[in-house]
Amino acid sequence: MIEINEVTKQFQDKKKFVTALKHVSFSVNKGEVVGLLGENGAGKTTLLRTIATLLQPTDGTVTVSGYDTIKNPNEIKKRIGVLFGGETGLYDRLTARENLEYFAVLYGLSKHETKVRIDDLAKMFGMRDYLDRKVGGFSKGMRQKVSIARTLIHNPDIILFDEPTTGLDITSSNVFRQLVHQLKREGKTILFSSHIMEEVSMLCDSVAMMHKGELVYHGNLQELYQSEGSSDLNYIFMSKLVRGNENYAS
Ligand SMILES: Nc1ncnc2c1ncn2[C@@H]1O[C@H](COP(=O)(O)OP(=O)(O)OP(=O)(O)O)[C@@H](O)[C@H]1O
Ligand SMILES: [Mg+2]
Repeated sequence: MIEINEVTKQFQDKKKFVTALKHVSFSVNKGEVVGLLGENGAGKTTLLRTIATLLQPTDGTVTVSGYDTIKNPNEIKKRIGVLFGGETGLYDRLTARENLEYFAVLYGLSKHETKVRIDDLAKMFGMRDYLDRKVGGFSKGMRQKVSIARTLIHNPDIILFDEPTTGLDITSSNVFRQLVHQLKREGKTILFSSHIMEEVSMLCDSVAMMHKGELVYHGNLQELYQSEGSSDLNYIFMSKLVRGNENYAS
């Protein structure tokens, strides 16, 4: 479903090159929920943006549903829903409903489809009370819920979330967690970054751990717990970072 093949990404920062991704390879299967872990600056957002066709790899390739991110970005955009941390992408002067309608139009949904979809999403997120209020006056959690709904408006098969629960309270985080379970039941493929180990442990089938642009581990979570003799993901993550990718074989 998502194939990341030897991806390297360099940014030019004035005269200096920053290598954000170094020969990263792994794949995400259909229906799989994968957690992307790594310290600040590890390359998580860069990788998600590359998969979402928003950045081009300096080297290597990414394919999504068989389409290459450079050759067929439009085919990919139709099939993915993306949400990046910190950027809500919402218009403050519009209501939540108007925001969602705006994105529905961009994806070519009919009026009827849009109405049904917005009703479903509003119900799912408990947003019905404020659906017709202007987003400008919303709290962080309310905005985040509308953003997540926006990500899902066109019912995408593949969903990329960058730190989806950062800034959300416990209730909203739980809504997100339930949503992931539901999307998984619907057979969606989900890749999300998080600094919250408990969340990854609870939701994910597999994890990809990054350190300074390199993939230090990728694999099934239960198998990882078995091989490490522990189910303390925080501890495992820290020890993988210390060991680096010496032992890593994909
Ligand atoms: N547009 C850019 N120009 C220059 N450097 C960049 C750019 N985008 C990312 N980088 C660099 O690439 C590296 C990886 O950044 P990235 O945002 O992918 O990390 P991250 O794992 O998402 O971190 P965080 O947990 O803080 O969100 C960092 O060194 C960052 O400074
Ligand atoms: Mg990031």
